[in-house]
Amino acid sequence: MVKGDPTVEVLVTGGAGFIGSNFVLHALATHPDWRVTTLDKLTYAGRTENLRDVMDDPRHRFIQGDVADAAVAGPLVRDADIVVHFAAETHVDRSLHEAGAFITTDVYGSFVLLDAARHAQRLRRFVQISTDEVYGSVETGSSTEHDEVKPRNPYAASKAGADRLAYSYWATHGVPVIITRASNNYGPRQFPEKIIPLFVTNAIDHLPVPLYGDGRHIRDWLHVEDHCRALDLLIERGECGEVYNIGGGNEVPNIDLTHRILELLNRPRSLIEPVQDRQGHDRRYSVDTTKLRALGWTPRHPFADGLRATVDWYRDNEWWWRPIKETDTAYRDYYEAQYGNEGPHKSDLSAEASAKAEEL
Ligand code: NAD
Ligand code: DAU
Repeated sequence: MVKGDPTVEVLVTGGAGFIGSNFVLHALATHPDWRVTTLDKLTYAGRTENLRDVMDDPRHRFIQGDVADAAVAGPLVRDADIVVHFAAETHVDRSLHEAGAFITTDVYGSFVLLDAARHAQRLRRFVQISTDEVYGSVETGSSTEHDEVKPRNPYAASKAGADRLAYSYWATHGVPVIITRASNNYGPRQFPEKIIPLFVTNAIDHLPVPLYGDGRHIRDWLHVEDHCRALDLLIERGECGEVYNIGGGNEVPNIDLTHRILELLNRPRSLIEPVQDRQGHDRRYSVDTTKLRALGWTPRHPFADGLRATVDWYRDNEWWWRPIKETDTAYRDYYEAQYGNEGPHKSDLSAEASAKAEEL
């Protein structure tokens, strides 16, 4: 090996998605001694343009492949010092329409990687990216890592299955697993099916923003860069076999989030369209991050600044999202199935929801 060559082999699954791509960019910028391999199937949510800045970087290689395909994924895991496993089907609403892919990717795909990790000689960390959704709806207080796992939708259940499977590979086979449960991420390059990019891009185009139910559901917003910094720290200092919550400490009801987005874009509140609630909609997520903070992490992005920068990113990068929303038939089919033929309209609403629309 030539002096100065990267010495740490890092496998990032799902690196062409939202958080994965932010992590790949962060990793290459922060660790000159890392060589990163991205393994991504390029589903509807995976986009090579998310990695365009590093596609020619000699310290990065991109492999299109399925984590559930042992012939492809196995050798990559066995050559790695660090695995950061993001690849998943990630959208709750899609899991309500069709849960099969969530089982094959989130559960079975995680199994394939973990099983390969049993025979990996140089592996020192396998980071299983789980989610705060595994705790289920949190009525009061905040979830600690010792709390029961009570997922309430097929996405969350598939993530909980993988989360516990990863733990079992540590407990039984000694695979150096760390499990992370992050709250809702926001930032650049999030696929425009999730609330922030969907509402921002709709509002830019003066289209209605479909708010589920009474709009009082609460999510804790974590800037994706703060998430990446937490993962970095956990790779270095996290303890194997342990679970770590990662949260931004920004609990915001959806209706307030919507008002802020409309304000930032100078759009009227009349764009808000209360639509039928999500089935099994978790009322609130909230994680206690004491364990992570004890290792020295604190979030750096105040929510107001992070949201403004995110809105600006979508305003400045129409090249990224407009083709998805306007010409990607898979996206348009999904949007129609979810929100109706031409998107949400007040006329589609029940009498109860229409009354709510007037209140908001
Ligand atoms: P995303 O949907 O933007 O990206 C998922 C990526 O995984 C895509 O690039 C997709 O092509 C890839 N992928 C899907 N199936 C695959 C397969 N079988 N093989 C290989 N690649 C495959 O998701 P995201 O929001 O970036 O989430 C990344 C991870 O973080 C997921 O595990 C998710 O459960 C977890 N998470 C997300 C959030 C959030 O708020 N977005 C919060 C906590 C945890
Ligand atoms: O909490 C972590 C989870 O956050 C991750 O594990 C998931 O991968 C990620 O998708 C996200 O899940 P949510 O279901 O919380 O995110 P979503 O953006 O879909 O919804 C956020 C809130 O906004 C939720 O209360 C539902 C509401 N919502 C969402 C959409 C898409 C609406 O009111 N209208 C919408 O059109």
